[in-house]
Amino acid sequence: AKRVLSGIQPTSDSFHLGNYLGAVRQWVELQEDFDAFYFIPDMHAITVPQDPKVLRERTRVAVAQLLAVGVDPARATIYVQSHVPEIAQLTWVLSCLTGFGEASRMTQFKDKSAKQGVDAAGVGLFTYPILMAADILAFQVDLVPVGEDQRQHLELTRDLAQRFNKRFGKALKVPEAFIVSEFAKIYDLQNPTAKMSKSADTDKGLINLLDDPKRSAKKIRSAVTDTGSEVGFDRENKPGVSNLLTIQSALSGVGIDDLVAKYEGKGYGELKVDTADVLADFVGPLRGRVTEYTEDPAYLDGILASGAERARAIASDTLRITYDKVGFLAPK
Ligand code: TYM
Repeated sequence: AKRVLSGIQPTSDSFHLGNYLGAVRQWVELQEDFDAFYFIPDMHAITVPQDPKVLRERTRVAVAQLLAVGVDPARATIYVQSHVPEIAQLTWVLSCLTGFGEASRMTQFKDKSAKQGVDAAGVGLFTYPILMAADILAFQVDLVPVGEDQRQHLELTRDLAQRFNKRFGKALKVPEAFIVSEFAKIYDLQNPTAKMSKSADTDKGLINLLDDPKRSAKKIRSAVTDTGSEVGFDRENKPGVSNLLTIQSALSGVGIDDLVAKYEGKGYGELKVDTADVLADFVGPLRGRVTEYTEDPAYLDGILASGAERARAIASDTLRITYDKVGFLAPK
């Protein structure tokens, strides 16, 4: 079977709606037909300061959330990045193939380091995309389901695989990004031309899956909409309305055209109320399911242990081949 792989950082107490609609929802679908690898990149998380105790908790809660939204440990290999040391080892080899200028051009690094100041930003933030490339290339992956903001990192990953293969002989599969354009960028409810993100100035435009459903429904009802009054899908002129249509469509399964037809002659108010209801129905049962999993850490740790074992078996094969290709003497 073809292989799919993706990761989500444990940097928040809850996934947000952008994470879910842009990426994790696709993971759940893809696990049916692919050999799936889904992991928690805790090593990426420490590229910005983390409280160790909170990081450990969030790592488990992230796994619990994956299970709660339908990632199935019987179908997918679920693991924590730091449990697979071969990834860090491969990162070194790839680092030596990455241009300094090439890494400097990564927009996420530029944004994050500008925010923190270059002196506060760690070198880990700079080499973050190379670690991500190793995450993927270690597993000889076909598809990587992500949101739009990861596209540039995927391009770098492909470039590094091709470069390695050209220089040393074929060892690494060149992966494809799997980006569902409709849902690849969910926007902030208060600022619908910016992506929904936990690092926005206020959290009024951010839907956390584990927040009180009433609070989330209220955030949707208070979403910024646009001038005019007709519900239509138009990213340019009606970004707020288009975002709500996207969210409602994704969660209800009703196509955007059908939704637009449904709201003909009705105002934005109705669109908001319905979208809020659909969202509340989705997030309502989630918290309870997540709590059930987090109350059983031994169960989660068991999943992670077998996940790491399976993941290491594959990553160590890739590492052995790449070490050999670059000319490292095999240990006897
Ligand atoms: P992270 O943890 O920031 O986000 C997880 C996934 O959510 C997507 N996403 C969005 N999609 C649509 N609209 C949004 N507003 C939105 N915000 C976030 C992200 O694109 C991502 O798919 N570097 C990665 C984690 C990672 C990874 C990997 C992913 C590490 N190694 C290897 C794939 C393969 C990240 O920080 O995602």
